[in-house]
Amino acid sequence: MNKLWPASLDRSPAGATPAVLPAEAEIRCGGHRLRLEPATLLAPMSGLTDTVFRRFIRQVAELAAAPDSAAAEPRLPFGGCGLIMTEFTSADGLIRSEKVARRYLSFAPDEHPIAAQLFGSDAVALSEAARVVEAMGFDAVDLNLGCPAKKVVKCNGGSGLLRDLPLLGRLFAALRAAVKIPLTVKFRAGWDERSLVHLELARMAEASGVNALALHARTRAQGYAGQAQWDWIGEVKQAVRIPVWGNGDVRCPEDAARLVAHTGCDGIMIGRAAASNPWIFQQIETWRRTGAYREPEQAERGRLMLAYFQQLAGAGMPGAVGKMKQFAAWFSHGVRDGARLRQAIYTARAEAEVIARVEEFFTQPITELVI
Ligand SMILES: Cc1cc2nc3c(=O)[nH]c(=O)nc-3n(C[C@H](O)[C@H](O)[C@H](O)COP(=O)(O)O)c2cc1C
Repeated sequence: MNKLWPASLDRSPAGATPAVLPAEAEIRCGGHRLRLEPATLLAPMSGLTDTVFRRFIRQVAELAAAPDSAAAEPRLPFGGCGLIMTEFTSADGLIRSEKVARRYLSFAPDEHPIAAQLFGSDAVALSEAARVVEAMGFDAVDLNLGCPAKKVVKCNGGSGLLRDLPLLGRLFAALRAAVKIPLTVKFRAGWDERSLVHLELARMAEASGVNALALHARTRAQGYAGQAQWDWIGEVKQAVRIPVWGNGDVRCPEDAARLVAHTGCDGIMIGRAAASNPWIFQQIETWRRTGAYREPEQAERGRLMLAYFQQLAGAGMPGAVGKMKQFAAWFSHGVRDGARLRQAIYTARAEAEVIARVEEFFTQPITELVI
């Protein structure tokens, strides 16, 4: 499934003003309030949003700054990203093996506020897994109702559940009864265009005590193709009183403002753009505060990429080289002469080799101007 954006994705300029961006958002759960400051969220992305990447997103400004830079930009709360989420984690796997918790749900104290995302279709397993998540200290637990992958759907997980609302109702009730921390749901609008369930699902979730909703405004059948249907996010926002976070195709601060203006959503969830432009959260918040934001320079891009790769290598992550190559596929499109950088990274075989090639690339003169 191609997860890169079509080149033609374009939005009208309407609504592209920072004045509409919310300064913060809140999830209420019983007497407890979880604040998102600002109202932006890092979307869960399997294989990418592990602890190294999540911390990296919150530290982008510091990591990209020149070591001797006196004019460091002002620090933003939470690096400009109000809530981060783990990649999706199998509820069945989590309750069967400690290794799963270590691999997918490890997080550092400075990652708060952080939510853990679970997938599964068994009420008992999901409830038990949610209790594990709560005991680990997560601030919220999220149920994945969007994953289109065949192996997940085959077991009725992810977007497979969009075809069985009665079962979903039972899962919401079981999860709500299992934990006290906020319960959120990230979903697609339906299995396909002929079976949209976003409104029914949203109302059912609210009635079951779900505390916030994130809609990736595509159907399962769409995969990542075409353009996200932001109208569906606006419809959900009209249908419920709990917070609604909009997700799909936000690639720059102007898109974030257009999404809010178009839908009235309470928060902006960003996935792929966090890898192609890790500055996006900082840019949105700086734009909201000051009315201006800037694009990073080539040297900053180099420092940031190197810092991320060094952290990945240092963390002893399984599959670190693969993660570096995956990141390079996104990130290099914003780098001048990025095709050459991609090529250099793709042919490297070990972590140290990737790092050496990145160092070499960013210290060499640019041969060709390609952005
Ligand atoms: C590589 C990749 C992995 C993803 N993994 C997950 C996941 O684990 N859980 C989930 O709910 N969505 C997952 N998604 C979907 C994203 O969270 C998001 O909904 C989607 O990319 C649309 O948002 P965007 O246009 O901002 O990227 C994934 C997307 C990508 C590209």
